[in-house]
Amino acid sequence: MEIGYQRVGNQRRSIESFWLPFYINKPFAKYFLLFFIFLLVLGSYLWTTLLDTTSNVLQSRRGKFPLNCSSGNNTRTCPVNYYPADYKFVNDNPSSSSPNCPHYFHWIHEDLKPWRKTGITEEMVERANRTANFRLVILNGRTYVQTYEKGFQTRDVFTLWGILQLLRRYPGKIPDLDMMFDCVDWPVVRSSDFAGENAVAPPPLFRYCGDNETLDIVFPDWSFWGWAEINIKPWQDLLKDLDKGNKMQRWQNREPYAYWKGNPEVAEKRMELVKCNVTENQESNARIYVQDWKEEIKQGFKHSDLGNQCHHRYKIYIEGSAWSVSEKYILACDSLSLLVTPHYYDFFSRSLLPLVHYWPINEDDKCGSIKFAVDWGNKYKKKVQRIGRKASDFIQEDLRMEYVYDYMFHLLNEYAKLLKYKPRVPKSATELCSEIMACPAEGTEKKLMMESMVNWPIDESPCKMPIPFNKLTLDSYHKRKQNSIKEVRTLERDYLREQRVKTKILG
Ligand SMILES: *[C@@H]1O[C@H](CO)[C@@H](O)[C@H](O)[C@H]1NC(C)=O
Ligand SMILES: *[C@@H]1O[C@H](CO)[C@@H](O)[C@H](O)[C@H]1NC(C)=O
Ligand SMILES: *[C@@H]1O[C@H](CO)[C@@H](O)[C@H](O)[C@H]1NC(C)=O
Ligand SMILES: *[C@@H]1O[C@H](CO)[C@@H](O)[C@H](O)[C@H]1NC(C)=O
Ligand SMILES: *[C@@H]1O[C@H](CO)[C@@H](O)[C@H](O)[C@H]1NC(C)=O
Repeated sequence: MEIGYQRVGNQRRSIESFWLPFYINKPFAKYFLLFFIFLLVLGSYLWTTLLDTTSNVLQSRRGKFPLNCSSGNNTRTCPVNYYPADYKFVNDNPSSSSPNCPHYFHWIHEDLKPWRKTGITEEMVERANRTANFRLVILNGRTYVQTYEKGFQTRDVFTLWGILQLLRRYPGKIPDLDMMFDCVDWPVVRSSDFAGENAVAPPPLFRYCGDNETLDIVFPDWSFWGWAEINIKPWQDLLKDLDKGNKMQRWQNREPYAYWKGNPEVAEKRMELVKCNVTENQESNARIYVQDWKEEIKQGFKHSDLGNQCHHRYKIYIEGSAWSVSEKYILACDSLSLLVTPHYYDFFSRSLLPLVHYWPINEDDKCGSIKFAVDWGNKYKKKVQRIGRKASDFIQEDLRMEYVYDYMFHLLNEYAKLLKYKPRVPKSATELCSEIMACPAEGTEKKLMMESMVNWPIDESPCKMPIPFNKLTLDSYHKRKQNSIKEVRTLERDYLREQRVKTKILG
């Protein structure tokens, strides 16, 4: 007993001497020191938590505006009062202190131009029902949806969720409106069908992308709130991962080749790109990989982690069946983005400039064009890094989630100004709110909704809209773009001619 007691006593002393490696006689002082250490640990924990993001700080200070999932009975209804009881509505027009919106907000004016003279009538909106997946009406801040046809995967779900979050972010500031939305890839409202003296006005139809031949109105795609099927997080979280991944490896230490990974089967031009891959006999400067989605799903997307994708100095972007959601992920690396001539645009891509944000690849000679871009870039490293950096800054700054919401805010406000009638709830529409969507949701969908939910109305006003382009500025903008591309083509032609001469001499 005695010995045992002593041993325990010794052990205790040794533990104490580990924590307090100096002699303190008074028990009070000991506790004081322990308390001090505790405070230090707590303090540093709180500090890092608080520093996380300023928006988190604001949110925790302001409390949350949670969903009320405890509806009294089984029929779920939207809350009578959408907004927190203590929320003060302030009627603020974008104040002079608001920042200017990024450049791509200009295209809101361009997309709505076809109706600037005529306005938008109910008949025009209804004509867009031909291909629309749903019709959405906002009346006094409440949302009503009529579904025509379920969208592919969860595109429609997260698009609707995004609009509902916009309403939580800017309560009382989204006007009454009536819109048709099509979740399919390709734009369908052909401008040639609505040209000429006696032409009828085109139907306004929202979708994720447009091209030069069509008049569809572009809207941010579902992936900003999450892409459940392929495990892509909401944009505000993904941006942080992308930033971390980008900082993991310096440009200089990245593989000096052009990288692409994706599914080539969706488009002929992607099949052609696969042929540019390096072979034993030829260094084409391209490293092309085929995405095996089935295998990726089995392995839990280990090999397609977007936060870990900046290992090459050059990254190729090539459209699939239409625009591709992946463009923003590719641009987010400091690596130089090699854009194979895009035919479609989404809401921000028309503001990307060749030689400022990306390097233009000739779609008619992809392999030669990529070979040249990489050789040129490995020679003029500083220039290429500057372009890569500009693109990742564009993604991290101009494409922050705050601006995505502001884009939706301004687009819907400008659109609503054109409506020539008071929207009403369509006969077969039902009310939709965050509760109706998120309360019964399960699994990945639920998780993404919770992560991307707007927790509190924002106090600040949206950014200040730019005035529309005039013809002169728009023309010179396109001119500038074309001139940069021409510049690259000229260099490229000379390079490729030289290469051919070399192989002839050697061969
Ligand atoms: C949540 O909704 C139920 C049913 O509509 C209501 O009785 C309850 O008061 C609500 N709770 C809160 C916190 O608003
Ligand atoms: C459920 O609640 C809704 C709205 O409060 C009400 O209209 C409906 O009659 C209720 N249903 C039942 C079965 O209690
Ligand atoms: C589309 O709208 C037209 C009227 O413009 C209407 O006749 C037609 O039934 C509508 N189609 C659908 C699917 O709602
Ligand atoms: C391209 O080449 C790399 C390196 O040889 C190889 O690992 C990869 O599988 C090739 N890609 C395709 C699509 O064949
Ligand atoms: C679309 O139009 C713009 C402006 O005229 C032009 O610069 C661009 O090359 C066109 N895109 C395609 C794919 O033709």
